[in-house]
Amino acid sequence: MKVTSYGHSCFMVEVKGKRLLFDPYISPNPNAKEIDVNKVQADYILITHAHEDHIADVETIAKRTKAKIISNYEIVNWYNARGLKNTHPMNIGGSFDFDFGLVSYVQAVHSSSFPDGTYGGLAGGFIIESSEGSFYFAGDTGLTTNMKLITEFKDLSFAFLPIGGNFTMNTEAAIMASDFINCKTIIGMHYDTFDLIKIDKEEAVEQFSSVQKELILFDIGKTINL
Ligand code: NI
Ligand code: MN
Repeated sequence: MKVTSYGHSCFMVEVKGKRLLFDPYISPNPNAKEIDVNKVQADYILITHAHEDHIADVETIAKRTKAKIISNYEIVNWYNARGLKNTHPMNIGGSFDFDFGLVSYVQAVHSSSFPDGTYGGLAGGFIIESSEGSFYFAGDTGLTTNMKLITEFKDLSFAFLPIGGNFTMNTEAAIMASDFINCKTIIGMHYDTFDLIKIDKEEAVEQFSSVQKELILFDIGKTINL
C-alpha cells in the first residue's frame, strides 16, 4: 500500500488501486502550504469525526473529485444536506465491504461536533482490511483498553495513531496503544500543527525504537510504500 502525508491527520492510502483520503485538513494548515488542495485526488474520503481540523477540505475535494464520503451517520447526513450525495453512512461497530476492502468504523474516545456546533455523531476510527494488508486509522482518541478488541479480529500491517497529546494520546500512550493493537509499525499523526500539540519528534521516534517499535513521521507531501 502507498501512503502519502498531507499534514496533521490527513493521509492518502492507495489500496487495490483506490485512493482513500483520510481527514482532509490541508488549506488551513500552515505546515502544508506546499500542498495544492486542488490537485489532491481521491476515490473515497473517510472522515473520523466532525472537528474542523479533520473536515476543512472535504467539500471542495468531494465536489471536484466526486469521491464517495464514508463516515458516521450524522456526518454523512450533514454533507447530504449540503448537496453531496455520494456518501456511505456507518456507525460504531459496523463493517461494510467496499471494492477495495472491508471497512470497519470503530470507537474513538473523543468528541465530534462541526465548527458551527452541530452534533457530529460519535467520534470513530477506521480499520481497513484488504488482500494487500490491513491497517487501523485511529482518528483523534485517548488511550482505551477497547483497542485490545481489535487484535481479536484483525492482524494489522501498520496503524495511524495520534501522538501530539493534549487533545489525544501522547507518545507514551501511543506506545501502549501499539501494544493493545499488537502492531509494531506506527505512523504518527496529530502533532506540531498547533502550539498545544508541539512535540519533540526525535525523542518520540527514540521512545518507540527503545521498545523495538517503529514510529514513522512523514515529511508533508512524502509518499512511502508499506
Ligand atoms: Ni478532534
Ligand atoms: Mn483533531
